Amino acid sequence: KIKASQRVAREISQIIITKNSIGKKTVLGLATGATPLPLYEELIRMHNEEGLSFKNVITFNLDEYFPMQPTSHQSYVSFMHKNLFDHIDIKRENVHIPDGTLQKEKIADYCRQYEKLIEEVGGLDLQILGIGRTGHVGFNEPGSAPNSGSRLVTLDDLTRRDAARDFGGKENVPTKAITMGIGTILKARKIILMAWSGKKSSIIKKAVEGEISSSVPATFLQYSNKVKIVLDKEAASELT
Ligand code: F6R
Repeated sequence: KIKASQRVAREISQIIITKNSIGKKTVLGLATGATPLPLYEELIRMHNEEGLSFKNVITFNLDEYFPMQPTSHQSYVSFMHKNLFDHIDIKRENVHIPDGTLQKEKIADYCRQYEKLIEEVGGLDLQILGIGRTGHVGFNEPGSAPNSGSRLVTLDDLTRRDAARDFGGKENVPTKAITMGIGTILKARKIILMAWSGKKSSIIKKAVEGEISSSVPATFLQYSNKVKIVLDKEAASELT
């Protein structure tokens, strides 16, 4: 996964350099969780050692728990700062992560704004994805529609169990989240889904080779020819 992540980091730096050369900003869609950690480490290394600059990069994160205070240890805001943003030269105003503190009635409007903002800056050049054991991308759990937009969703029980360790028990994991939709993700000009370890092998098989169905939302990526799937041997082990 280190080598694979280095390749993905290289691809990101190429996009940044190419866009810089035509005077444009790069718009990245980012994920949290264990999967992109080696990628973020490599981007930080490239920033420190190779002068890769994020001054002209705008980011949009896929999701955030709801409700969630940004200052909480478990927030995706904390995660992104700790694992990436605090170590690179990105401008704070160019970082976007769904707001977990909103009043419920305001979320729909907020989500429309989030989508509008992505469009206004020119759309996502690249979306980075992990995959959950339910087949979610972002927090688009089973039942999500292929054209879904950003919205408030209910987390699957398995997703909450998988997050239990971070929260000291499943009962402390929020039941909801704000996520970009499948439709939002599919609009990106490039999509890279990464998965590591045997824990992901069966869901990767379903996502890549299974019938397209909302019961495994990641199968909707099969509609797109812009998707690259990056796996280690273990995650790929059930593919035919
Ligand atoms: C995180 C996200 C999720 C994770 C997925 C895998 O922003 O959107 O879809 O990518 O749950 O999580 P890890 O990488 O921890 O296995």
